[in-house]
Amino acid sequence: MSPSLARRAVEVLSTADAAEKARLSRAHAADWFAARAAGTPLPVGRAEPPLRPARPDRPELLDPREVPKRRPGSVEGRTALLHAVAHIELNAVDLHWDVIARFAHVPMPAGFYDDWVKAADEEAKHFGLLSDCLAARGSHYGALPAHAGMWRAAEDTAGDFMGRLAVVPMVLEARGLDVTPDMIALFRKHGETDAVAALETIYAEEVGHVAYGAKWFHFLCGREDRDPKETFHALVRRYFKGALKPPFNEEKRAEAGLPPDFYWPLAADAG
Ligand SMILES: [Fe+2]
Ligand SMILES: [Fe+2]
Repeated sequence: MSPSLARRAVEVLSTADAAEKARLSRAHAADWFAARAAGTPLPVGRAEPPLRPARPDRPELLDPREVPKRRPGSVEGRTALLHAVAHIELNAVDLHWDVIARFAHVPMPAGFYDDWVKAADEEAKHFGLLSDCLAARGSHYGALPAHAGMWRAAEDTAGDFMGRLAVVPMVLEARGLDVTPDMIALFRKHGETDAVAALETIYAEEVGHVAYGAKWFHFLCGREDRDPKETFHALVRRYFKGALKPPFNEEKRAEAGLPPDFYWPLAADAG
C-alpha cells in the first residue's frame, strides 16, 4: 500500500540533502494530487516527525549577527541575498511537511491537506528556482553561511496548531510579502532577469500560502468558537518575539485575507 501522507512528510523531514528533499517534496505532492484526482485519496495517517528536520552539512549555520553583511549593490551581495532566500525556501519546505505530520491527529477536511501539500510543492519549486539562479552565478546552496534559528518558530509552536498557523504563514510568510517587492526592484535595476522572474513567481505564490494560513486559522477559530482577531493577537504575543515591522504590504496582505486590525496592533507594541 502507498505510504500515508504523514509518512511521506516524515521522509521529507528526515532527508538531509537539499536537492533530494526538494525532489521528494514535489514527488509526494504529485502523488497526493494524482490520488485525489483518481478518487482514491492517500490516507493522512500518523507518523512521528523529528523535532528538527535533517539538513545538509553545508551551509554552515551561524547566529544571524555573525552572518557577514554584504552590500546589495555588489554582485557578491546579490548572490548572498539569493542564497539567503534559498535557505528560507528550504526551511519552508520542512515547515509545510512538519505541519502535516505534527498535527495529523487533529481532524481536518481534505482541502486543508490540498492547500498544505500544494504549498510544500511550491516551496520546493522556489528552492529550485533559486538554486538555478545560484548556479548561473557560479555558486550553489551551501556555498555561504546561513542563519541558524530558522526552526525556532516551529519548535516553539510544536504543541500548538493554531499558534503555528498564526506565527508561520500569518506572520513570517506575510513578512515575505512586505519585503519581496524591494528585492525584485533591486535585481531589475541590475538587469538580472533570471532572479526577477524567480522572485516574481515566489511573490505571486506566497500570497496563496498566507491565504491558506489565514483560511485554516479562521476555520479552527470557528470550530472552537473563538474570536479570530483576539486569538491571533494572543498567540503571536505568546510565540513571536518582538513586534511586527512596518511598512506592511497592505494590498497583498488583504488579498491573503489578513486585515489591518490583525497586524497593526502588534506593530504598535514596539511603541
Ligand atoms: Fe516560498
Ligand atoms: Fe511560502
